[in-house]
Amino acid sequence: MTAPHLQTTRTCPFAPPAEHERLRDLGKPTKVTMPNGEQAWALGRLEDIRAMLSDPRFSSDRFQPGFPTLVKERPQQLRQGGFRPSLIMMDPPEHGEVRRTIIGEFTVKRMAALRPRIQQIVDDHIDAMLAGPNPADLVKALSLPVPSLVICEMLGVPYADHDFFQTSSATLLRLSAPPEERAAASEAIRAYLADLVDRKREQPADDLLSRQLAKTGDIEELVGLGFLLLLAGHETTANMISLGVVALLDHPDQLAALRADPSRTPAAVEELLRYFTIAEFATSRVAREDVELGGVLIRAGEGVVTLGNAANRDPAAFANPADFDVDPRRPPPHRVRLRPPPVPRPEPRPPRTPDRLRHPLPARPHAAPRHPRRRPSLQGRRHHLRHLRTPRHLDHLMPTIVADATRCVGAGQCVLTDPDAFDQDDDQGLVLILHPTPTSADALSRARQAILLCPSQALSLHE
Ligand code: HEM
Repeated sequence: MTAPHLQTTRTCPFAPPAEHERLRDLGKPTKVTMPNGEQAWALGRLEDIRAMLSDPRFSSDRFQPGFPTLVKERPQQLRQGGFRPSLIMMDPPEHGEVRRTIIGEFTVKRMAALRPRIQQIVDDHIDAMLAGPNPADLVKALSLPVPSLVICEMLGVPYADHDFFQTSSATLLRLSAPPEERAAASEAIRAYLADLVDRKREQPADDLLSRQLAKTGDIEELVGLGFLLLLAGHETTANMISLGVVALLDHPDQLAALRADPSRTPAAVEELLRYFTIAEFATSRVAREDVELGGVLIRAGEGVVTLGNAANRDPAAFANPADFDVDPRRPPPHRVRLRPPPVPRPEPRPPRTPDRLRHPLPARPHAAPRHPRRRPSLQGRRHHLRHLRTPRHLDHLMPTIVADATRCVGAGQCVLTDPDAFDQDDDQGLVLILHPTPTSADALSRARQAILLCPSQALSLHE
């Protein structure tokens, strides 16, 4: 039987294609034909996707034969257009090593520190939009310039050049654009960044590229990093701002609930990410060896494509999955991203796919310490990482939270879940456990949630 062609576009922006839901409801991975004629396994159940993403036998290396691609040409052809493997295409141990060199730039604390400036950028653009012609073009007035300005400032890219980036990255990401046009856009961005990094060498400033340049002399690596961040943070965030506004206007009851209680915002952001799952195919992989998954045998070299939006509407994982609901009392929505399955871990392995999907997390009001916290000295912090002991009087009552520093990739989910119990070190963003022994049932439940959410499976409880 020939495998059905994978539908790569949505018919309705608010819902996964019916065909993706049909594939999911088959109840096991199914072969599909990709746009280039190759076959891959489509995963539609949340459980299968989670299992796959935390399994080191699957690779993120987009240059490997068999890696599912949404365009007709294989990535090797794009590589000639200046495309160089970046973090997102790496596997451990290389992935963890490279990631640790930049994670200090993306800790929860760093993101919280950016908050006032980002707020100012948002406020200025909303003010300008309100003062301008009515009706306004939301995308031009707000959705595109906000992430564009933030990323440019963060990297140290002159904002005057943002038009160039917007046009080139839009071409690069437009799957229907001819391969040579996409390769030319990729090369233009690469050449621009190479020149910029060169100028930073002459005149370093207080920005990410200059700081990274001080750490590494590898210009190509920096160009690759700049490339990834510009692309990863631009269209994604812009699309989510626009879609988020539309979803809230389309659900006035949810908008009213959010306005009445702005503390629901973090839950609403999670819900919007689940509801739209805009980067749904971004978590595709290729098997390095034969793997049994969800009741099928995936052979070494076969690709796996994730139907993220269908999985985020999986009735086995969510009650009323088609509803948009910002109510924080609902069990937290699970975006398709790397979270360990809640089972005891066998042999420790080096972190790999769980290192993916870590990007700067939106700063949340409680991300910054609520009260000055006594911070352990550097020596004390190492102690926290290595010898997490339960105070004697609680030994028999509470389990101890243990962190494996070699696995941690600084995703910061633990800090967001429980800022009183967890922190990150400033250099590498590695987890610091401030209170290894939960002192109440609530604290224990937060610790369990942090452990569940940790994408690199670096945390565990010693009962
Ligand atoms: C709503 C906004 C965003 C969405 C939906 C999104 C989605 C994703 C997805 C699905 C991946 C995983 C790819 C994989 O597993 O192979 C990823 C990785 C990544 N994203 Fe984002 N992203 C967003 C915003 C951003 C922003 C603002 C930045 C940077 C400023 C960023 C930087 C990255 C980086 C560096 C990676 C690679 C992480 C690693 O491999 O360790 N993303 N993103």
